[in-house]
Amino acid sequence: ETGYITLDPGFKNTGSTSSAITFLDGEKGILRYRGYPIEQLAEKASFMEVAYLLIYGELPQAHELENFHNSITKHTLVHEDMKQFFEAYPAQAHPMGILASMVCSLSTFYPESQDPNRGYEAIDLTIHRLLAKLPTLAAMSYKNAMRHPAMYPKNELGYCENFLHMMFGMPTEEYTPDPVVVDALNKLLILHADHEQNCSASTVRIVGSSQANLYASIAAGVSALWGPLHGGANQAVIEMLTKIQEDGGDLQKWVDKAKDKNDAFRLMGFGHRVYKNFDPRAKIIKKAADDVLDKLGIDDPILDIAKQLEKVALEDEYFVQRGLYPNVDFYSGIIYRALGIPTEMFTVMFALGRLPGWIAQWKEMVENGEPIGRPRQVYTGANERDYVPMSDRK
Ligand code: SDX
Repeated sequence: ETGYITLDPGFKNTGSTSSAITFLDGEKGILRYRGYPIEQLAEKASFMEVAYLLIYGELPQAHELENFHNSITKHTLVHEDMKQFFEAYPAQAHPMGILASMVCSLSTFYPESQDPNRGYEAIDLTIHRLLAKLPTLAAMSYKNAMRHPAMYPKNELGYCENFLHMMFGMPTEEYTPDPVVVDALNKLLILHADHEQNCSASTVRIVGSSQANLYASIAAGVSALWGPLHGGANQAVIEMLTKIQEDGGDLQKWVDKAKDKNDAFRLMGFGHRVYKNFDPRAKIIKKAADDVLDKLGIDDPILDIAKQLEKVALEDEYFVQRGLYPNVDFYSGIIYRALGIPTEMFTVMFALGRLPGWIAQWKEMVENGEPIGRPRQVYTGANERDYVPMSDRK
């Protein structure tokens, strides 16, 4: 009764929407946010500027950026009652799990977010609240895992400085982040800010298409990002490189293992659904890794292993034939380590960067009045058959 259905597992050849936010060219390795090349934004912009650009469509003028930042700063504190949630989590709880549930519970504290027919100013308030609270919640999830006291935001600080203060500050002493660390964090957040209809952005859109509120939609995006095939890859890369190092550093052995179809092991941080020649973000991050470690005087043997692994893989027919190159997650963890970010927080850092992109995708879907997402299927199950009483079942 439905005519014919085009089956497309993983939506490899399906456009789920039209969008004016981010442009990718997988062959040429092009990534632009609202038309601006990622290379220029990563060098010249601030993360707050890029968040504004993605969400509102234009680079902000000075007064617009100031109003945007001030509006967000007002909401950086998290409701006191939410602290009890944190105490309930065991220290070994993964910060991504804490983050997803805390983001979803924001809708309990801010009911205006639940009215699907609310006006644009209410939507803007919800957007600014979320941009303000995610860093606070992220830092609180880390402090909770460390069983350290949570640090209150300091609203006179910039976005990156404030996050680093909440992550690494202690009530007993002043904390001033190294400007090299601040710049590196700003660049990484920009490079992660959006990537058109990736797994987590598509999740945010489809959850939002049921008129679930923004917080619930973003919480679903956080959950989708957690998977090791998606944002969880940055943590998996460091765990893989560390295992290779501990195993004696025989790179060809691990490259061969990744090619073995009977072995589930994959080279984490390699491959991409869209980019088939190189991931422009990986190029920028690889260069930044050298720069940041050099400036911080860090000699991390894992970076050398990563570079050697890339070299061995890219000389291997299997990888070249399949267009498998380092993606955004391959080198990012090396910089996070240098910044003092613990491995279990790497995907949380990805979520912090991706938040403005998810919000922009959700807002565009709402403003375009897109229908609820509800794909069909090709049925391969049993034909009609009658119920079998328990006594007759064998
Ligand atoms: C992100 O979509 C986005 O834009 C995502 C992202 C974003 O910004 O939102 O860019 C962020 O998620 C980056 C990707 C992080 N994930 C990883 O690094 C995990 C390792 N990579 C993969 O599992 C894989 O490459 C994906 C998930 C990234 C892409 O999967 P596809 O497009 O479904 O490709 P595939 O699994 O069908 O692989 C095609 C072939 C297969 O071999 P054949 O069946 O053709 O023989 O390539 C092989 C795969 O076995 N292959 C790999 C491999 N990735 C693919 N073989 C070894 N190691 C790998 N990493």
